[in-house]
Amino acid sequence: MRIAVVGSGYVGLVAGACFADLGHDVILVDNDEGKLAALRNGETPIHEKFLPELLERHRGHRLQFSHDLHEAVRASSAIFVAVGTPPTDRGDADLSYVESVAREITGAISEYKVIVEKSTVPVYTSEWVRRIILRNGADPECFDVASNPEFLREGTAVTDFLFPDRIVVGCDSERSAQLLRQVYEPLTSGSYYQRSDAIPQPDRASIPAPMIVTSSKSAELIKHASNAFLAMKISFINAVASVCESVGADVKQVCTGIGTDARIGRRFLNPGIGYGGSCFPKDVMAFRAVARECGYDFRLLDEVMHINEEQRQRFLRKVRSALWTLRGKRLGVLGLAFKGGTDDIRESPALFIVQALLQEGCKITVYDPAAMGHIEKELKSNLQCASSAYEAAAGADALLILTEWEEFANLDLHRLTSALKYPIVIDGRNLYDPELMAAHGITYYSVGRTASHSESVPAGVRNGQKKA
Ligand code: UGA
Repeated sequence: MRIAVVGSGYVGLVAGACFADLGHDVILVDNDEGKLAALRNGETPIHEKFLPELLERHRGHRLQFSHDLHEAVRASSAIFVAVGTPPTDRGDADLSYVESVAREITGAISEYKVIVEKSTVPVYTSEWVRRIILRNGADPECFDVASNPEFLREGTAVTDFLFPDRIVVGCDSERSAQLLRQVYEPLTSGSYYQRSDAIPQPDRASIPAPMIVTSSKSAELIKHASNAFLAMKISFINAVASVCESVGADVKQVCTGIGTDARIGRRFLNPGIGYGGSCFPKDVMAFRAVARECGYDFRLLDEVMHINEEQRQRFLRKVRSALWTLRGKRLGVLGLAFKGGTDDIRESPALFIVQALLQEGCKITVYDPAAMGHIEKELKSNLQCASSAYEAAAGADALLILTEWEEFANLDLHRLTSALKYPIVIDGRNLYDPELMAAHGITYYSVGRTASHSESVPAGVRNGQKKA
């Protein structure tokens, strides 16, 4: 099938590359010539596992890059719209890019096409897209609008696309549903998974992928409700973690105890410094705004956001209570990205905490395996950048773990204690066992668990260094 994907951002690029891997001919459209040139030159603008391989495999063959929206639409049966929907000041989504694509493509609709929303959009968007296309003169028989939300996590987006828990397509006509069934047929029939060059199957993959066909409104709601529910799960466990801290219980044990109930599930039940990224904060706010607009006061979502903000403040209080005064303290920080496995620092709780600590007068040396290049100039001038976790820890009064990178969970603790001025680790992601840390002489603070205080002498004293 010939497919156009409009917008070569994170969702569009992954979807385009994966559609090509399913055997479709894809034109990826963007109005940013610089981005298109980089893609044609073999660059991969985002840090995403397997994406470089897929781009390499299909670039110039099944995957073309173009700025010509009309030409791409004329050549394609399905047009996936994956342009940005940034939040407005009021918290709802700015749909002006979606509207302008709908307006622009109208002139190129001469035979039947399905326009598919792929961006995260509020309920009623497909109805509006249809209205805009009709208003601009398209023949109503020549197109349908459908919704096909994505459930891709940054860092694992390619495998999430190719091995999805479910594919949701919201269609208001059988004709459009049929066309979308064809698009995803290699996944729903399982033929993709038989191929020797298929991307390796992750754990827990449910293959072949189930497809859920709904109305377009239901599909739009499924996307917002899924993200809001996951964010709620995280805020819930963060609230439980706070209670655990008050009573001296262990949130990890509580998570295992409740998460093994199949109705609850263990995933997305990790407490920490709150959720971040370009999706959850924006989508919870947008869903709240959509509900309000539709006449429902979804106050539960206010609480989800409130707990999330409070979680960062709690962590800052923890740093203060571990170190007493902060002015002039040297801190090593591990992690800037909003989560492990990505270079994305948008709405990163780690970044928020670093900025707050700088304001309190701390001197910070930071290390992140992928996100260092994204630090803004102004912030960078206030930070020391390290090229390893041990370099970030060198001479620090304490080490803070702010992002759940795998390499941060496997540090050489002997090396770490001898690098630190004081063996104090404040872990916002619960990557270590408190007993193990205590056994290594580390005073360890984490989330929802009692701090483990080491009895041993500080590393600097052991190493014969002079204390400040
Ligand atoms: C999220 C959803 O998981 C995807 O299904 C969805 O498609 C995507 O948003 C989107 O709407 O585009 P993503 O933002 O990439 O994906 O990241 P997640 O893995 O969901 O993590 C979000 C945040 O929650 C991170 O800051 C992470 O550290 C935090 N988190 C996650 C926790 O604090 N605890 C957990 O147990 C899980």
